[in-house]
Amino acid sequence: MKGTLVVYRDPEELADRFADQLMEWIAESSGKRFDLAISGGSTPNLLFAALASKYAGSKNWSQTHFWWVDERMVPADDPESNFGVAWKMLLSKINIPAQNIHRIKGECNPYQEASGYASQIREEVAMKDGWPRFDLILLGIGDDGHTASIFPNQMELIYNEHICEVATHPASHQQRVTLTGITLNSAARICFLVTGSNKSERLSEIWLGQEKGQCLPAYHIHPVGGELLWITDQQASQLITIL
Ligand code: 6PG
Repeated sequence: MKGTLVVYRDPEELADRFADQLMEWIAESSGKRFDLAISGGSTPNLLFAALASKYAGSKNWSQTHFWWVDERMVPADDPESNFGVAWKMLLSKINIPAQNIHRIKGECNPYQEASGYASQIREEVAMKDGWPRFDLILLGIGDDGHTASIFPNQMELIYNEHICEVATHPASHQQRVTLTGITLNSAARICFLVTGSNKSERLSEIWLGQEKGQCLPAYHIHPVGGELLWITDQQASQLITIL
């Protein structure tokens, strides 16, 4: 599996150290806009808390543009909303201009919103070879090996020709808008944030390139012309680091 594995002691150390790394990358872009796409789920929450507590007043936020990798099609005040969680835990606590926040409107029609969000990305994010090149995309891995809202039963979203598409959660049938695989793989840098022993099997299947791993959406995500980092804790990487 391509990429670099980084192992921290636990989720708390990962959040604290990766918050510093993220702010360094933003600072390195020396004043140019930094387009960051974030995922939902629970893993990013510790990172959000670390960023809010350590960097609330940073001047870096004025150049940082937040986008979402995917969104559940629910109103922003729904506990399921990826934007809602990021707003509560981070965005409402930092000094960031409102126009730098580009949420997927979960309260709208999914198909119209997928099209509108793609247009906004095309207008604002630097393009390379016809695809948006996010400076950094933060991804997670579900227990089933999904990433973004690309689920194992919707692998066609990996090579879909649109910037984003409507997806459906296989169990809850909840509709989502998600960036597609080619969009993800067009990023300058992708970091998978993976913590907890419940992710260790999926991570090792993917990292070791096992047959089971090759059937998982996350296995097919690696930037074509960029950097891939697996930011993990000891529990999640326990089946890799013993080798
Ligand atoms: C979502 C996320 C999803 C998430 C994984 C991991 O909207 O749910 O984008 O892809 O990253 O499911 O979720 P946890 O961090 O909760 O394990």
